[in-house]
Amino acid sequence: MMPGEPVADASGQGVRRRDFINIAATSFAGVGAGVAIVPLLMQFAPSADVQALSTTEVDISKIQPGQGIKAVWRKQPVFIRNLLPAEIAAANKVDVGSLRDPQSLADRTKPGKANWLITLGVCTHLGCVPLGIGEGENRGEYGGYFCPCHGSAYDTAGRIRKGPAPKNLVVPEYSFTSPTVVQIG
Ligand code: FES
Repeated sequence: MMPGEPVADASGQGVRRRDFINIAATSFAGVGAGVAIVPLLMQFAPSADVQALSTTEVDISKIQPGQGIKAVWRKQPVFIRNLLPAEIAAANKVDVGSLRDPQSLADRTKPGKANWLITLGVCTHLGCVPLGIGEGENRGEYGGYFCPCHGSAYDTAGRIRKGPAPKNLVVPEYSFTSPTVVQIG
């Protein structure tokens, strides 16, 4: 029989040989995919190793008031800043209700640790890394961070004040494991 020549089925209708081959191949792929799902699902359960990698411990003992550092957590930059009293005062002076993304400094820091502002260093517009954590970098007109990509300005609490970014810089999950060590994640 030639390739493509009709094959008579029970209903008497012709089914081309090539169609048979395609149907057989598809069924086999279906079985293969079913078998493959089990190990894939098992891979989704994070191992202890992976869970450990999802947190980062940072020593903050050397960060003086007015300074900040950039850490890395899950491949993303994290800004850790030790705010000056004047920066805390500037953040607290703002009418929260007037903000695009209304949050107080207290909402964004831990109780009794308002000087430690910990945020992702990722602009909430399109994901650039804003300036301002490095010594001497442009901190924008609100004194926090400035994203030069499209001109978003964040204040001393990392809240969006001007430009296209819709949200404040994200505060990740974190905790103080000691007075000088922060665990992010
Ligand atoms: S990515 Fe920051 S302003 Fe556009």
